[in-house]
Amino acid sequence: MSEFITNVPEYTLNTGAVMPAVGLGTFGSDKYSPDQIAAAVSGAIRIGYRMLDCASVYQNEDQIGKVLDGLFKEGVVKREDLFITSKVWNDQHREVRKACEKSLKDLGLSYVDLYFVHWPFPNYHAPGCDGDSRNPDSKPFSVDEFMDTWRQMEELYDAGLVKAIGMSNMTISKLDAVLPLCRIQPAALEMECHPSFQQQELFDYAKAHNIVPIGFCPIGSPSRPERDRSETDVADTELPEVVKVAADHNIHPAVVCIKWAVQRGLCTIPFSVKEPQYISNLKCTTEDPLSTEEMELLKKADRDCRLVKGQVFLWPGADDWTQLWE
Ligand SMILES: NC(=O)c1ccc[n+]([C@@H]2O[C@H](COP(=O)([O-])OP(=O)(O)OC[C@H]3O[C@@H](n4cnc5c(N)ncnc54)[C@H](OP(=O)(O)O)[C@@H]3O)[C@@H](O)[C@H]2O)c1
Repeated sequence: MSEFITNVPEYTLNTGAVMPAVGLGTFGSDKYSPDQIAAAVSGAIRIGYRMLDCASVYQNEDQIGKVLDGLFKEGVVKREDLFITSKVWNDQHREVRKACEKSLKDLGLSYVDLYFVHWPFPNYHAPGCDGDSRNPDSKPFSVDEFMDTWRQMEELYDAGLVKAIGMSNMTISKLDAVLPLCRIQPAALEMECHPSFQQQELFDYAKAHNIVPIGFCPIGSPSRPERDRSETDVADTELPEVVKVAADHNIHPAVVCIKWAVQRGLCTIPFSVKEPQYISNLKCTTEDPLSTEEMELLKKADRDCRLVKGQVFLWPGADDWTQLWE
């Protein structure tokens, strides 16, 4: 039996709820099966993970729900001791309650702790599609459409189906446009974040608005699907700044990415189905911190390298993926 990990840092949301600084990501990148991911959820909770980052589009919430049910019945963990997120997928922006109820049913829960609008536009692509595919119904970001979706999110909060609501894949200009219109402010912002893509301005913006930033792809998503790979991408675990700090601490460069994220003030949601990896990713936030000098050195690892460019969500006539991030 592996050691049980405690004293993981936490953040307090604007709702007053407490969220662990490390959660297990559950997107299998078209590489790992739902059963492998559900088994990792079971193993991770048994060694101390208390947060899971789920989404309906990951197509594994029902398998994760069965694992959770087993863990509750076995007395391994209580529902109230877990922090579970889910997300409404792009094709359900007009039916948010229905989408949320489906996720709750699949996960076997009466509420989730945080529910996200996964992407700020209703543009849909088929799961597993290739990077060049385009949906003729895709449209640019619209404040009115987004706010219609957010109103439905606020109703879920009012109904107690979700304990907090959040946004994901936003930019400062989109947040500037929608935050003044929100009756309920987002509690968290899920954003791509790793040493080679630090998004310092967006990070500072979230903190200044009392929104907890949650960094996805914290290790630079080395197993990401082909559609999210391009020739200009850099590998975070090979950056000289990351490699040096890893060598000095005698740890894997991936673990440096996690330590850096949490010490910087991010919640981080690394994915792994491999027990030694997911143990290291949690344990590293409880021991052997990086020095101020190392944190400064890692600031220099930023290469402005966005990995999840979202090009499959482009609308007909759009020039390139950067338009999604205006
Ligand atoms: N909101 C959004 O739009 C959005 C977008 C993307 C992701 N996410 C969330 O963020 C989570 C994390 O992102 P991600 O899964 O793309 O990428 P990631 O966490 O950056 O990378 C995961 C991969 O890193 C490797 N790894 C993990 N721990 C390691 C360790 N200790 N040592 C060495 N290698 C290690 C594993 O590769 P191998 O399997 O090859 O060993 C693993 O598959 C997702 O699962 C999902 O929950 C959200």
